[in-house]
Amino acid sequence: MCGIVGYVGHDRSLEVLLGGLKRLEYRGYDSAGVAVIDAAGELNVAKRAGKLGVLEDELQRHPISDGATGIGHTRWATHGGPTDRNAHPHLGDDGRLAVIHNGIIENFASLRDELTAEGIEFASETDTEVAAVLLGREYRRTGDLVEAFRAVAARLEGAFTLLAVHRERPGVVVGARRNSPLVIGLGDGENFLGSDVAAFVEHTRRAVAIGQDQIVVITPDEVTVTDFDGNGVDVEPFEVAWDASAADKGGWPSFMAKEIAEEPDAVANTLRGRIRDDAAVIPELEDLDALLVGIDRITIIACGTAAYAGQVGSYAIEKWARIPVEVELSHEFRYRDPVITPSTLVISISQSGETMDTLMAVKFAREAGAKTLSICNTQGATIPRESDGAVYTHAGPEVAVASTKAFVAQITALYLFGLHLARLRGTLSVAEQAAAIAELTAIPGKLERVLESTDSVAQLAHWMSDTRAVLFLGRHVGYPIALEGALKLKELAYIHAEGFAAGELKHGPIALIEPGQPVFVVVPSPRGSDEMHKKVVSNIQEIRARGARVLAIAEEGDASVLPFADEVVRIPLAAPLFEPLLAVIPLQIFAMELATAKGLDVDQPRNLAKSVTVE
Ligand code: F6R
Repeated sequence: MCGIVGYVGHDRSLEVLLGGLKRLEYRGYDSAGVAVIDAAGELNVAKRAGKLGVLEDELQRHPISDGATGIGHTRWATHGGPTDRNAHPHLGDDGRLAVIHNGIIENFASLRDELTAEGIEFASETDTEVAAVLLGREYRRTGDLVEAFRAVAARLEGAFTLLAVHRERPGVVVGARRNSPLVIGLGDGENFLGSDVAAFVEHTRRAVAIGQDQIVVITPDEVTVTDFDGNGVDVEPFEVAWDASAADKGGWPSFMAKEIAEEPDAVANTLRGRIRDDAAVIPELEDLDALLVGIDRITIIACGTAAYAGQVGSYAIEKWARIPVEVELSHEFRYRDPVITPSTLVISISQSGETMDTLMAVKFAREAGAKTLSICNTQGATIPRESDGAVYTHAGPEVAVASTKAFVAQITALYLFGLHLARLRGTLSVAEQAAAIAELTAIPGKLERVLESTDSVAQLAHWMSDTRAVLFLGRHVGYPIALEGALKLKELAYIHAEGFAAGELKHGPIALIEPGQPVFVVVPSPRGSDEMHKKVVSNIQEIRARGARVLAIAEEGDASVLPFADEVVRIPLAAPLFEPLLAVIPLQIFAMELATAKGLDVDQPRNLAKSVTVE
């Protein structure tokens, strides 16, 4: 949440900062602002409530003088509403210093009280301004921005990435981070800082991730990283695996439409290099194999869509590797005093690798003695760095706030992991492993077929654009897909939607069914458990008898649902465990199309941000 960009180099800060903010806007879009030190040494600030476009219009109407040093911010409001006043940057040292911030300073109220008692008047309601005032004071005391950062960092509690520029220090941007992300982009005669590499990838693909509790200073020709105690830190540059075009819309009406179309590639790329002789062999796990053999329990932690991917994956891992697997929301896990032993493996799943709830849960699990493995889509992110091992999904950058291609890539990575573990534990025969691998490698082709036949779902969504509530039902691996279908509809179309385990219906939710109530039902393959299939068909009849409008997602050739369904969306045949990878697509498209029909912004739904870096 909140995107930040820093730049030093040539006389083009505004272009770099606004371009970076455009790419980071998915992190928050309540307000935006920039601060630039121009050639005359003036500090020029512009900031506006609303999306980046509002700031850009303001800069057109009232241009500010450009320069070679600057910082920029796009906000997801936490302390103080989304107003011009609360927009970043905030000023310290009597307007000579500008500060931007991502995170939450948890002790800001006491710091603010202390400063107010000393006569300081604040211009905003934000926690950030407290840091700006403190930095300004420390700078006046020490005459050194890094010393000032060190002193202030020692006083702040919570999560922060702070960037600052001071008009007495042109050509220098200083940043510090604790529990919020910060990445350096290494240029030629220019250097960059960003919340993630998207901020600068159109200028350079050489990057360095900054570690916990570190301070970075960039000048046009130098990058220096120290820890909060002032010790030098060696940095390890990495090459960003994608280029700027991967994060462009590329002619699609929305990032979400583009990212749904990329799902076959997301799965294929996540599989690549991880299958050997019809078995899953994840090279990144080789060093951990001895440790994996010793585990006796797995807890998967994640939030939102990633947690639903975890739920799908838990069925497969448990079935194949015969090990107990539980799935828990990261923020619940951490606060319930869970039983963790050295033989517990905690797998975190996070597209961004920065979700604060998940990061804190991973740290908690490590401190409690668990082994930790991260499934992540973002290079240089914090969660994989804080884990014992990492398996990257290769979905490419996901820009739309609602997760789509990352979801199928996460399930793919979990399935690979389940098969890898089953091989280590000897719980599947060679033939069983080969059969699962054959199913998995066939998924990209089947996804292409699903994507070729989505017109009926799009049409359905447009017909249903005034619907007020939609229910989703599923059993077994279809249950998390029902939950995900409901989440997508809520977050994109602002429609009340609920997902239920089909078996739970008769324990209460069936009371919601009234004539005309639309209900999506994820129908399991009859070739899996015939019993389970029959039960779902019975559930369909139960709701149909009460007037529900049944929208079934069923595999090709399954005629059993035809007499009871108002609409049937077909997906290709797949073994039951693999069906979720296909069944989720129509639900993603349904939510996107319905939101579009309502005239909503599918890439930037209200109140949300992609990377949730506050707890
Ligand atoms: C929903 C969505 C969120 C994320 C959740 C976790 O479409 O995108 O529910 O899945 O905030 O985010 P990551 O995966 O970045 O940890």
